[in-house]
Amino acid sequence: MILNFSICILPLLSWITSSLAVIPQHPRPVVLWHGLGDSHSSPGMLEFASRIKELHPGIFVHSVFIDQDLSKDRQAGFYGNVNDQIEFVADQLASIPELRDGFDAIGLSQGGQFLRAYVEMYNSPPVQNLITFGSQHMGISDLPGCSRYDFLCQAALRAAKQAVYSDWAQKNLVQAQYYRDPARIQTYLTSNLFLSAVNNEVPAFRNSTYSHNFASLQKLVLVLFTEDKTVVPKESSWFGSEESHDDVRALDNQYSFVGASERGIVPMRLQPLYTEDWIGLRQLDQRGDVVLETCQGEHMQMGDCWEDLVTKFVGGKA
Ligand SMILES: *[C@@H]1O[C@H](CO)[C@@H](O)[C@H](O)[C@H]1NC(C)=O
Repeated sequence: MILNFSICILPLLSWITSSLAVIPQHPRPVVLWHGLGDSHSSPGMLEFASRIKELHPGIFVHSVFIDQDLSKDRQAGFYGNVNDQIEFVADQLASIPELRDGFDAIGLSQGGQFLRAYVEMYNSPPVQNLITFGSQHMGISDLPGCSRYDFLCQAALRAAKQAVYSDWAQKNLVQAQYYRDPARIQTYLTSNLFLSAVNNEVPAFRNSTYSHNFASLQKLVLVLFTEDKTVVPKESSWFGSEESHDDVRALDNQYSFVGASERGIVPMRLQPLYTEDWIGLRQLDQRGDVVLETCQGEHMQMGDCWEDLVTKFVGGKA
């Protein structure tokens, strides 16, 4: 009797336990990386995390930190070595059990290119969908401006621009590490230690792991803010960049009417980085997995424009 009973109940029990393991499926976790001037748990970031939890009940959310202390974390958005910061974050993500099977990632402003660097250089645990809002994937070609009559600010800005490719700035000033000056591309390529590397721009240092990892994303969602005046040029959020002055000079020789004042934007699909597929971006795009989106408004004025994207591309629904 007892034997029969257990024979009969065992398959049932194992069926129950295996279906229990499947039915209460949690949404895929998500990792956030905040923007410049913000910190991992600012009121804005806490609000963002809680709205995501409303959209995806039960989701695990981790907000990346460089320092647990909020003001030090904010400072680390301005000062520090970006490559070191990304290594630190890679260790942090690898140590979180909830992320073990992979996660989606949302990068706000500069947090977007930093998460992309994580994908290219580490990606363990792996990222499925990467969404970046107003990020500077092709760097910035100007530092945020000063007001017209603020001469002190302008003097500081000039000094900063002069020194931006110094060894010290490239190891200590975060924005210098993604400053890509169209008038000094050669200097950028020889001095820059972060952006030129993650963009695989220097032939001698090109690393196929970066393109392999980047192309392993399921979806890459790039959001550009239509009125962005903080990111110069705003098209950087879509892998666009200002024409380098060398390109313009070459054009000037061909067509004398094209002056430097008419410098245009090189869009993603015309970038050598894309056409020669240095980072796997073309592969992703040709597979149909690059999603170019816009939000109306100035830099990081997210309004409710993020909600549909986060509903669709976060939590394991796409
Ligand atoms: C390429 O990148 C991977 C991942 O970051 C790294 O482990 C490897 O050492 C790099 N290879 C070279 C030749 O630098």
